[in-house]
Amino acid sequence: MACIATLSQTRAVLTSSEACERNKGPILGVLKVALAASRRVLEIGSGTGQHAVHFAANLPQLLWQPSELREHLAPLAERIALEGTRNLLPPIALDVRDDPWPAVPADALFSANTLHIMSWQEVQQFFRGAGALLAAGGVVCVYGPFRYGGRHTSDSNAAFDAYLKARDARSGVRDFEALDELARAHGFESIADDPMPANNRTLVWRRPAAR
Ligand SMILES: C[S@@+](CC[C@H](N)C(=O)[O-])C[C@H]1O[C@@H](n2cnc3c(N)ncnc32)[C@H](O)[C@@H]1O
Repeated sequence: MACIATLSQTRAVLTSSEACERNKGPILGVLKVALAASRRVLEIGSGTGQHAVHFAANLPQLLWQPSELREHLAPLAERIALEGTRNLLPPIALDVRDDPWPAVPADALFSANTLHIMSWQEVQQFFRGAGALLAAGGVVCVYGPFRYGGRHTSDSNAAFDAYLKARDARSGVRDFEALDELARAHGFESIADDPMPANNRTLVWRRPAAR
C-alpha cells in the first residue's frame, strides 16, 4: 500500500493511503445501495481512517464505528478527531481474534483490504464475529482482490499474492468461493459482487430476514 504524508491544518502529520483516495469513490457507490437500510456500521481494520471519514460524510444516515488493532489505534483516532463528521464515532480496539468481539451495536459490517492480510484462521474468525454480531437483515461488505475458480483475475493480483505470501505465508488473496462458503455457514447469502478499479471487488452478503 503506497503511503504519503499529509500536513493537516492542525499540524499533525497523518499517514494517508493513495489507494484509499482512488477507491473510496467506487466503494461508496456500492455502499449507498448495500447499506440503504442500515443504521450502524462497524468497520474492521480501519487503517488510516480515510474510508471511515469519507463514508461517514457521504452516508449521513449512518453511524460509522471504526476499529483497529490496539497498536494501530492512535493515528486512526487522530484522523477521526480532526476530520470526522458527527456520525463518525471514535475508533475502538478490535482484533477479529477477540472472542467475543467488543459489544458494539451494528446492523452492518464493512472491511477493506483486510482478508488478504489476515491468516485464514483470522478470516474464519471475521465471519464468526459477523455471524454473532448481525441479526436478520444484517449486511457484510468487504473490498479487496479475490480469486475466482481458483484463478487470479489479473497478473497484478497474482504478483500481489506472491508478494504477500513471501512476506507472511499465512496471508494471501482469498478465493471468493471459500469466503462465500464461510459466509453461508454463518447464515449470510451473497447479494452483490461489484467490479472495482485495479482488479478489486466489493462483495456483499446479507443475513435473510426472519420468516
Ligand atoms: C492493508 S490494511 C487496510 C487498511 C484500510 N482498511 C484500507 O483499506 O486502507 C489491513 C488492516 O487490517 C488490520 N488487521 C490485520 N489483522 C487484523 C485482525 N486480526 N483484526 C482486526 N484488524 C486486523 C491491520 O491493522 C490493517 O489496518
